[in-house]
Amino acid sequence: MKLLPVHPILWSTFVILWASKSEVEANSDICEDDSFSDDLVIHSFQGEMVEMDPESNTFPCLLYPTNELNCTWSFHTLQNDTQVFVTISVCDGQRTVFTDSSEERVSSHSLRTDDYENLSVNLLFNITLHNNWTAYAYTYSKYSLEVLSPPQILSASAKDDILSVTWREPQSRDGAKACFQYQLDLGDQDRPKDLMEQLSYKGPNADPSRTYRVRVRTKFQDICRANSHWSEWSHIATVEQSVYKLNTLVIVSISLGIPMILLAVVLLVRYQRVSKVLFPPIPRPPQKYINFLQKIETFNVIRPAVSAEPEEEITVVE
Ligand SMILES: *[C@@H]1O[C@H](CO)[C@@H](O)[C@H](O)[C@H]1NC(C)=O
Ligand SMILES: *[C@@H]1O[C@H](CO)[C@@H](O)[C@H](O)[C@H]1NC(C)=O
Repeated sequence: MKLLPVHPILWSTFVILWASKSEVEANSDICEDDSFSDDLVIHSFQGEMVEMDPESNTFPCLLYPTNELNCTWSFHTLQNDTQVFVTISVCDGQRTVFTDSSEERVSSHSLRTDDYENLSVNLLFNITLHNNWTAYAYTYSKYSLEVLSPPQILSASAKDDILSVTWREPQSRDGAKACFQYQLDLGDQDRPKDLMEQLSYKGPNADPSRTYRVRVRTKFQDICRANSHWSEWSHIATVEQSVYKLNTLVIVSISLGIPMILLAVVLLVRYQRVSKVLFPPIPRPPQKYINFLQKIETFNVIRPAVSAEPEEEITVVE
């Protein structure tokens, strides 16, 4: 919140203008009072001027898309024995819709309003020191209060190393079609990107394996409406590239992995056959045959002894 300081020349002008009227104005209806504007002005006073620095004492008011109105003020830099009376009036044109007062130096006031056509919020700060008081006036028009609704993300995708995001223009209370400013957060370490007017973003897809969590928010550009506040962030659109990667991986495994496994099995079976051919297993007869064979061997050993007998030579004599 930045406001123009109240200049001494302005003050003296108001001193002359309001000196006679101050007693009358004090109790009149703020909404009917046309001295309020979006500059902080001296409304009325008595005795010596009680100064207030609008640079360090702030009083922002915001109207959310839900028609919730929230005004906050803080008067930190006043002398300790200074008293502050804050009167807040919600007006629809000259009609007072709501009014309340507070004696807190730091406070906030929150209420729901209807969607009044000529809504404005008038603030009166009456600052009293000893027997002197000075009342300052400020008004927020409907449009300077407005916090826009977040833009709606229409698409978010990554393709061919380009990240693309598109979103819908927000709707302002006065139907403004220009003057929007956007901030795009890609959910990475980089600070959000500031974009003027445009409703899309195209940028390098820095890391094709990461998941982007994209969100966008908006406000009026400063040249159009001073002190515009950022909207809430939009819903998050997730650009999940890892899912695509996984699918590729699955396809690759199916198309390559399974034939590979089959090939391995075939090779294994083949190898076993080949090794059978190359290194045939040595047959090993059962034990009883071995015993039998051993017996035969013994017999063969004995036999020469038998055959050692003189061989009969049969000579046929005619
Ligand atoms: C400011 O407060 C004083 C009391 O401290 C009161 O007499 C005076 O009427 C108030 N002025 C306005 C404009 O409310
Ligand atoms: C109003 O604003 C104040 C300060 O920003 C905050 O503490 C408070 O929660 C807000 N109230 C609502 C209802 O939003």
